Amino acid sequence: MSDSREIDIFFEIHCGLPQEGPGSFDSTKRALELAGSFPERAELLDVGCGPGRQTMDLARLLPSAIIDALDNHAPFLRAVQRKTTDAGVFNRVTAVEGDMAHLPTGPGSLDLIWCEGAAYIMGLRNALESWKPHLKTGGRIALTEPVWLRPEPPAETVEAFSEYPTMRDPQGCREIVETCGYKLLGDFTLPEQDWLNYYEPLEARIKVLRDKYSDDATALMVLDKEQAEIDDYRRNSSYYGYLFLIMSA
Ligand SMILES: C[S@@+](CC[C@H](N)C(=O)[O-])C[C@H]1O[C@@H](n2cnc3c(N)ncnc32)[C@H](O)[C@@H]1O
Repeated sequence: MSDSREIDIFFEIHCGLPQEGPGSFDSTKRALELAGSFPERAELLDVGCGPGRQTMDLARLLPSAIIDALDNHAPFLRAVQRKTTDAGVFNRVTAVEGDMAHLPTGPGSLDLIWCEGAAYIMGLRNALESWKPHLKTGGRIALTEPVWLRPEPPAETVEAFSEYPTMRDPQGCREIVETCGYKLLGDFTLPEQDWLNYYEPLEARIKVLRDKYSDDATALMVLDKEQAEIDDYRRNSSYYGYLFLIMSA
């Protein structure tokens, strides 16, 4: 998306949604359990936090952890700040504006890097290599990664994922984890409900904006593109999914 008006419409669609990718409290909890135990006042970084759904789940599941929630989109960070204030955790959960390719934390400083639905922006291998120096010895990473679940996906699905040409199957992801020098602690595929948690509010927003922009060709084109992603999931979700990968350094 290059046109600034298209970008504005994209963010109007996405502003105020509860989450910006597939996920749920139950999956975050399951992944955290696979990650093992953490010290009191463990230091976490939630990379690509979006509006902070998983940030707030982590704050609830680790009630004394210090959490920085990192994103490069300021309106999402304001949403995180509102949530931390409402939940009374603003003294230990901080919204941080920054770039996942240049983490703001010092070397060897983090017990846990969390990243739901955003590591693909750097690519799995690149993210794992670049984030490792920021972990303490034995520090852990938990992230979700788009994966192919069946061979020969339909052309429309291949096109939908064309922005991530290195997307692999689960075994390919496990091999990347190992070759990047991590020990895989566990993995699982997100259930369908996690996708619906993202797509149902998104689809409701698309419907509202379709009325608002009924005479606006650019806006309708962006809305159609967003709807096409949801429709493709309904038709072809057996071909792809999100894999939660949990590993230690
Ligand atoms: C698919 S969303 C996932 C958001 C959130 N983890 C969730 O599951 O609801 C990806 C997020 O990564 C953020 N992002 C994109 N590029 C980034 C970068 N270079 N550095 C930090 N965050 C980035 C986006 O603003 C967005 O919030």
